[in-house]
Amino acid sequence: MQVLTVNLGDRSYPIYIGEQLLSQPELLCPHIRGRQVCVVTNETVAPLYLDKLCAALSDYQVDTVILPDGESHKTLQVWSSIFDTLLSSRHNRTTTLIALGGGVVGDMTGFAAATYQRGVDFIQIPTTLLSMVDSSVGGKTGVNHPLGKNMIGAFYQPRCVLADTSLLRTLPARELSAGIAEIVKYGLISDYDFFVWLENNMDDLLAGDMTALAYAVKRSCENKADVVAQDEHEGGLRAILNLGHTFGHAIETAQGYGNWLHGEAVAAGMVMAADLSCRRGAISNDELARVIHLLQRANLPVKAPSDMIPTQFMELMGVDKKVLDGRLRLVLLESMGKAIITSDIDAGMLQDTFDACKAD
Ligand code: NAD
Ligand code: GLY
Repeated sequence: MQVLTVNLGDRSYPIYIGEQLLSQPELLCPHIRGRQVCVVTNETVAPLYLDKLCAALSDYQVDTVILPDGESHKTLQVWSSIFDTLLSSRHNRTTTLIALGGGVVGDMTGFAAATYQRGVDFIQIPTTLLSMVDSSVGGKTGVNHPLGKNMIGAFYQPRCVLADTSLLRTLPARELSAGIAEIVKYGLISDYDFFVWLENNMDDLLAGDMTALAYAVKRSCENKADVVAQDEHEGGLRAILNLGHTFGHAIETAQGYGNWLHGEAVAAGMVMAADLSCRRGAISNDELARVIHLLQRANLPVKAPSDMIPTQFMELMGVDKKVLDGRLRLVLLESMGKAIITSDIDAGMLQDTFDACKAD
């Protein structure tokens, strides 16, 4: 097992990464302060792993909430159903919420923990690759609004993250690829050596090789923890974690939540960000081709949907959380392995990127 730390002073917390961690209560229990636990999961993950987790929590009052599965259910309405169980089972301020699931469950549970009785403890047990490498770490929680992704939420850190990589054995291939998109992101924004490692090890990741997956989870979490420790509330630097996301969120919103997976939209969005970076002269055509090739090898989309026109992109990108004083800001590449955040965007180049990155 590997143990990393997200360094946030007295709110620092560990990330445990390894196999068969779910059945090791000694990892979880020190992070549970009271006698009550509420496990929030969904209808797909519950039959796979809920009993195992509950068995590890036999010393506690355990209540469970099973949410409907899918991004389309990441709504205020579904989120509020978590409180029905917490209140009817009389959970008090010392309760601990445990998110057992992918990023959707994790984001909604964290946001419920941030607001229940003005804030109770929570633990992240990510079960998808994407949630192990990204969403479970760093304390962004929330739900979608029909007009924009993740528009309602809070920064709220978990007490610990338990990434049991053996849970990835049941993950569908399409979801594994979606997680790889966020992994490639770290290589592009801050870790060129890791990008090269991914070029050399993509086949092992796709084949579900546990050693390769554990390494990718660890390296991704190291990169993310480093950024979060420097800029928890996204005053500046943290925005680099959103490479491709401004384009990607527009795709997700336009296509209807859940039709494009988050990781798929991020992959196409990262190609758009890399394409624009190439037009600005920051990366070469060969480097752009390497980005596209790596994502293609991971079976990810590298073009935006054919039915999305630039004005729709611009309208949806206008509600991005990075917009400042009405000006669009984008995360672009300064070089391979280094990202910048800029509002200095040439409209003509952006138009060319929209044209070049649209599927036929
Ligand atoms: P998800 O939570 O929808 O999970 C993907 C699918 O896999 C679901 O159908 C789920 O039921 C299923 N599943 C989960 N674990 C499984 C397992 N072990 N075996 C079999 N099936 C399993 O999607 P995701 O990709 O994990 O997360 C995407 C969400 O995360 C988006 O809402 C996105 O906005 C959010 N996100 C948040 C952050 C953050 O910092 N908070 C970062 C990135 C993404
Ligand atoms: N996924 C982007 C962030 O955590 O900031």
